[in-house]
Amino acid sequence: MKKRAKKMICMAGICGVVLCVSGCGITSNFPGKEKKRAELKIGISVYDQYDTFLTEVISRLQSYAKEKEKDWNITITLEIQDANKSQLVQNDQNDEFIKRNFDVACINLVDRTDASTIIDKAKKADMPIIFFNRELVEEELERWDKLYYVGADAFKSGQIQGQILIEQCEKDFASVDRNGDGIIQYVMLEGEAGHQDSIVRSMYVIDEITKAGYKVEKLADEIANWSRSQAETKMTQFLSSYRNEIEVVFANNDDMALGAIDALKKELGTKREAKDNGTPWPYVLGIDGTEVGLEAVANGEMLGTVLNDGKGQAERMLDLAYSLVSGESLSEEIELIDGKYIRLPYQKVTAENVAKIQWNMQETIKE
Ligand code: BGC
Repeated sequence: MKKRAKKMICMAGICGVVLCVSGCGITSNFPGKEKKRAELKIGISVYDQYDTFLTEVISRLQSYAKEKEKDWNITITLEIQDANKSQLVQNDQNDEFIKRNFDVACINLVDRTDASTIIDKAKKADMPIIFFNRELVEEELERWDKLYYVGADAFKSGQIQGQILIEQCEKDFASVDRNGDGIIQYVMLEGEAGHQDSIVRSMYVIDEITKAGYKVEKLADEIANWSRSQAETKMTQFLSSYRNEIEVVFANNDDMALGAIDALKKELGTKREAKDNGTPWPYVLGIDGTEVGLEAVANGEMLGTVLNDGKGQAERMLDLAYSLVSGESLSEEIELIDGKYIRLPYQKVTAENVAKIQWNMQETIKE
């Protein structure tokens, strides 16, 4: 393969920055790497630096690293690179981490079915890999004992999204079933073809609602690649075909829910204006609990979202990286399932608890 000039792209303004320096060292537990060390060097590659959820994960990783430098009394270097949606670029970035003797790589795979090059090379170089957010198949993770995955239980997010709508149905079914036919007409905005979260969320949300005894009818579904602007385009198309028929919009993430809201505002006016004109908005539901997503729940544009704990995922990745290098055990509260997986729970967010969740987020940012 032709060797390309490597372009290191910084996320959130930080790229390969040594966050703090201290004198005391830790001892590596890696075979062949036993030596006094004062630094933990982590290479991180994200599939797309413009993804809102991942930007929040990386930002928390950076602030948590600053905190932990003090607690662990070491230097933590995070080198963050954008794979720009290319698996080949990501493979090269991983090569570079190996070449520069990084201790651990955290990889947010571009193509979750194509991890083999990264795994083979990391294994040869004895550099552990923590995959995150985009889950590779189990057999791949089994190929070496220094491969890990940090993420969430995708199917639960679909179930919780379903429960948010069920609660609204129980409270006031007529507000959901606006045409009174006893069936919930919905459209679905899906994340990305082949992404575990897309597939599972789209399936489990509907499963949950029908299991609760409600009838549903899918008017349309489209892939919008987790993107706000693509979702706006798709929602505009849905509205041109089903203007007054859509009762619920399910989006696999908050950015797409916000794209749907952008389209609703353009086509129907704001929620209040539409109501005054006799064409009220459908209920819109997202997943993630990003800052902008929470804001939309707080101002009533979104019925609810499901907190995808990016903060927790960032923290557990760093804890795991430190434990791998230092040989210190992970704290007892952290469950390493099958010695390989760390899964963070999701949480329901509606008008009732959104203020509290926003407050918690602010506290984390201040830390
Ligand atoms: C998040 C999306 C994000 C995607 C990227 C999902 O878990 O909910 O917002 O775009 O991961 O892989």
